[in-house]
Amino acid sequence: MANNMTTRKILVTSALPYANGSIHLGHLVEYIQTDIWVRFQKMRGHQVAYVCADDAHGSAIMLRAEKEGITAEQLIDNVRAEHSADFADFLVAFDNFYSTHSPENKALSEQIYSTLKANNYIATRPVTQYFDPEKQMFLADRFIKGTCPRCGAQDQYGDNCEKCSATYDATELKNPYSTISGTVPVLKESMHFFFKLPLFENMLKTWTRSGTLQDSVANKLAEWLDAGLHEWDISRDAPYFGFEIPGESNKYFYVWLDAPIGYMASFKNFCSRHPDFDFESFWDKNSNAEVYHFIGKDIVNFHALFWPAMLEGAGYRKPTALNVHGYLTVNGSKMSKSRGTFIKARTYLNHLQPEYLRYYYASKLTRSVDDLDLSLEDFIQKVNSDLVGKVINIASRCAGFIARGNNSRLTANSPLPELWQTFQDTIPTIAEAYESLDFAKAMREIMALADQANAWIAEQAPWALNKQADKQAAVQTICSFAINLFRLLVLTLKPVLPALAAKAEVYLNIEPLAWSDYVTFLADHQLNDFTPLMTRIEAEQVAAMKEDSKKDLKAETAPKGNGELVKDPLAPTIDYEAFAAVDMRIAKIIKAQQVAGADKLLQLTLDIGDEQRNVFAGIKSAYPDPSLLEGRLTVMIANLKPRKMKFGLSEGMVIAAGPGGQEIYLLSPDSGAIPGQRVN
Ligand code: MSP
Ligand code: ZN
Repeated sequence: MANNMTTRKILVTSALPYANGSIHLGHLVEYIQTDIWVRFQKMRGHQVAYVCADDAHGSAIMLRAEKEGITAEQLIDNVRAEHSADFADFLVAFDNFYSTHSPENKALSEQIYSTLKANNYIATRPVTQYFDPEKQMFLADRFIKGTCPRCGAQDQYGDNCEKCSATYDATELKNPYSTISGTVPVLKESMHFFFKLPLFENMLKTWTRSGTLQDSVANKLAEWLDAGLHEWDISRDAPYFGFEIPGESNKYFYVWLDAPIGYMASFKNFCSRHPDFDFESFWDKNSNAEVYHFIGKDIVNFHALFWPAMLEGAGYRKPTALNVHGYLTVNGSKMSKSRGTFIKARTYLNHLQPEYLRYYYASKLTRSVDDLDLSLEDFIQKVNSDLVGKVINIASRCAGFIARGNNSRLTANSPLPELWQTFQDTIPTIAEAYESLDFAKAMREIMALADQANAWIAEQAPWALNKQADKQAAVQTICSFAINLFRLLVLTLKPVLPALAAKAEVYLNIEPLAWSDYVTFLADHQLNDFTPLMTRIEAEQVAAMKEDSKKDLKAETAPKGNGELVKDPLAPTIDYEAFAAVDMRIAKIIKAQQVAGADKLLQLTLDIGDEQRNVFAGIKSAYPDPSLLEGRLTVMIANLKPRKMKFGLSEGMVIAAGPGGQEIYLLSPDSGAIPGQRVN
């Protein structure tokens, strides 16, 4: 058991956020939880590095970059800048926020892979998988949809059915189609590389039961381990955005192989700038340093099975422990875009102070893996009553008396009221609560102390004494003691509220507080001018944040194949030849009908003068009664390569705008245009 007498060497990580989306309040549960723990350990004087990175690889990132018309490198650079700013503004103080697309990560991934291979932990065998003949790429399960083989529900993903919860192989889907191109995928074989996970079964059975995991997590893993482990497919075929497998051509490491290695790589990059941290001594098999990964419950298998096995197989030490947290709900339900409860980090920051949320999460976080709820009503109430009403109130009630009555100088109190000892006795309990990740308990203990401090001040009633000329010394003694209690509350809250603490340190005219400073009493000490330290949350601010979150949704386009919501930036410029190569024609819709089994499509028969065309258009949600379209003129791209869809051949495309849903606007020429006329 570590204690605060010896300096511990600690490496801490939060999961690496995907580089294809914005940080939201759900993610922040984890980053705030980790940051509080790290700040606590640093206040205790331990040697701590807190590292993270963007998880930059994978086909989703490749496809999104393609849609935005930028390179994957540009996309991940943009996102990294956005993520870094979000984290910094939420006071999440990484010692390094790197990228998995880095030279250190490439070298480490290659080295770990080569060692695993040399140790005979890698197998190869051919795998038959769905392949999109138009995109010329193999399709991950989430890029394939079709009819559930068990219950017949349509438009189900390639691995499981949302209707009946069946799990299956993508090849079992009926009427499969690629969500990227809409084409029917074909089966194709290619060679894959596997990590021989079953060889690590005994090691994992021991490791998962050696205090590394919360009990409920260990129990879940025991179920998986008892069911038997399978070899893990660690390769993907080109095209893929990632690291090429050394010695092979057109084979890449699966993103989940190099992602956890990204923890090591970010730390290695940090060490290169901080000679007081030595990479080897943290990761060596016999290391006496501690390594902790904070993760959400959805990624336990990667961190508690694959990762320790990879480390073991490659000759590195394994993590000391995983700290697993639950998922965030808002107002009791899953975050919802339409209700305005899918709140991005930046949207929150545009309306509210980061420390409100840090405190609220701290007041909810325990070691449990259960989901935690952000009730917006409770959030306002709790922050206002605890932080503003209890903690800040102590200083704002007393500062004025000291400023006016004693030129902002604290008196030399003695003897100290009994309450001082109560604080001294409770603070170690608060430290234990932080240490064991029971922040909720720490916050309860701190607020109980604040309640006692306020009760004591109310009893002493300096405002009443101040009216009596002979009680001026007593007023100063009372208020000086109260300011000392305030200092201890700030100290204990500092891991959660670092900006508030920094302002209070300026007011108190003291060096940055370390945990051990709680034993000292500020006597005969000059203060600086008091400035307001924190304001109340107004309900209007929260309402405005929700409204903005709904607008975020409208600014984004409908899901585009890969299920990600993305904005449409302007495409790169093209020359006239490219423009002229697109043959756009006036078309008359002569027939518009529903397509049996398609949620989004209408089947249009278009007259373009000499010919008729059959086109499937994804506009059904905007035109629930297709017959209203009949007779209407529109514009079509007539020389688009015909595409085989599961409902038939689509011979071109009509032009429409809008984010999707009911907001799709089919373009029409003014009346008088003639079907078949060239538009461009
Ligand atoms: N890229 C992977 C992690 C690789 S680690 C080697 C990933 N990224 S993520 O962006 O989807 O999630 C990052 C972390 O945020 C994960 O630990 C995940 O559990 C957590 N959360 C994402 N949404 C969350 C909530 N709604 N609530 C709480 N935590 C959430 O997974
Ligand atoms: Zn089903």
